[in-house]
Amino acid sequence: MAAVELRGVRKAFGRTAVIHGIDLEIRDNEFMVFVGPSGCGKSTLLRLIAGLEDADGGDILIGGAEVNDVPPAGRGIAMVFQSYALYPHMSVYENMAFGLTLARTARHTVEDRVRAAARTLRIEDLLHRKPRELSGGQRQRVAIGRAIVREPRVFLFDEPLSNLDAALRVAMRIEIAELRRQIGATMVYVTHDQVEAMTLADRIAVLNAGRLEQVGTPMDLYHHPANTFVAGFLGSPRMNLLAATVTDVNGAAVTAALPGGGRVRIPVIADGVSAGDGVTLGVRPQHTVPAGDADAVLPGTVFVVERLGAETFCHVRLADGQAVVTQAAGDVRVAAGDPLAVGIAADTAHLFTGDGRALPRHRRHPLAEPPAPVTPAAAAPPPSR
Ligand SMILES: Nc1ncnc2c1ncn2[C@@H]1O[C@H](COP(=O)(O)OP(=O)(O)OP(=O)(O)O)[C@@H](O)[C@H]1O
Ligand SMILES: [Mg+2]
Repeated sequence: MAAVELRGVRKAFGRTAVIHGIDLEIRDNEFMVFVGPSGCGKSTLLRLIAGLEDADGGDILIGGAEVNDVPPAGRGIAMVFQSYALYPHMSVYENMAFGLTLARTARHTVEDRVRAAARTLRIEDLLHRKPRELSGGQRQRVAIGRAIVREPRVFLFDEPLSNLDAALRVAMRIEIAELRRQIGATMVYVTHDQVEAMTLADRIAVLNAGRLEQVGTPMDLYHHPANTFVAGFLGSPRMNLLAATVTDVNGAAVTAALPGGGRVRIPVIADGVSAGDGVTLGVRPQHTVPAGDADAVLPGTVFVVERLGAETFCHVRLADGQAVVTQAAGDVRVAAGDPLAVGIAADTAHLFTGDGRALPRHRRHPLAEPPAPVTPAAAAPPPSR
């Protein structure tokens, strides 16, 4: 097991710079997830750690030692790809054993490790099969098994679940979480899927156009996004980001005028904004409240109702044309065309400067504290609105 450290890592393909100097420490035994939009450089960064690409600048350290000039095989890493990359003519056993055999590992050691990995991944009955005789989920298990038998210091996963259908993804996600607990290694995991990122990660690194936007625990990023990019990226449906104007600033709060004429006083530090500035108000659909309990409301008209069973997402058009999504109970009585005032609670709202930077809160956000143990009463569904 080993920590991974990136210091000022840069990479260009030809004249196009794609990684612009990344500093990041991945701790020993940590599950680090890279998320970001397509083309932002996630795979490139993983390949740089693996040694499949050479950095143009900066240093990469694994287990405290610089590996800039160490070839992939000498880095103590194992990588799992979206495409599985299994050898079609070899059996599952041979696929898993191949890397070890190549490294002239003793036959009984190979056999022990392959059988142990197969047991962990519950593919013991499939060892004689060829990849074409397996389902997608089974193939990906073999690819993970092939990584496990090498006993790497660091596992690198590049979107390992994105070829699987939705139900299998969920099942495999849980298996990866379980596997991680069993083998307890340093893992770097790339995904597009923000649910995978939130549920698997110890920490998430959000990348955008070759730069790190923010690194933190899932709940930290969820409750304290540093900017509008991170705010809009994590959470589903995405955070509502609405144009608003600052009307008043004091030591305790920033007051903003909202679309529709309301005002809301948000307990953040003004840090560079003053009355008259354009700002962005951020409110997650899950944090909207009934109008009667709200610190401010956004009046509008429902234009789409999405019923997911347990909850309902109402899409509301405000008078100035901006759209807001609000989460309500599954059986809420609402239909397209209905007027609806979306309620905002000041202590769960976010405020961002005109260039997208979050205004800091005064104190730790109560929702970011570890959740209290769930009692049956607390776990009951909320009353419908
Ligand atoms: N071998 C290459 N030659 C030239 N450009 C490349 C090469 N590999 C990647 N790129 C470019 O580098 C940028 C980052 O690519 P990368 O594959 O790292 O993105 P990504 O975040 O993994 O995207 P996705 O989510 O679609 O997999 C992209 O603009 C891509 O076109
Ligand atoms: Mg990629």
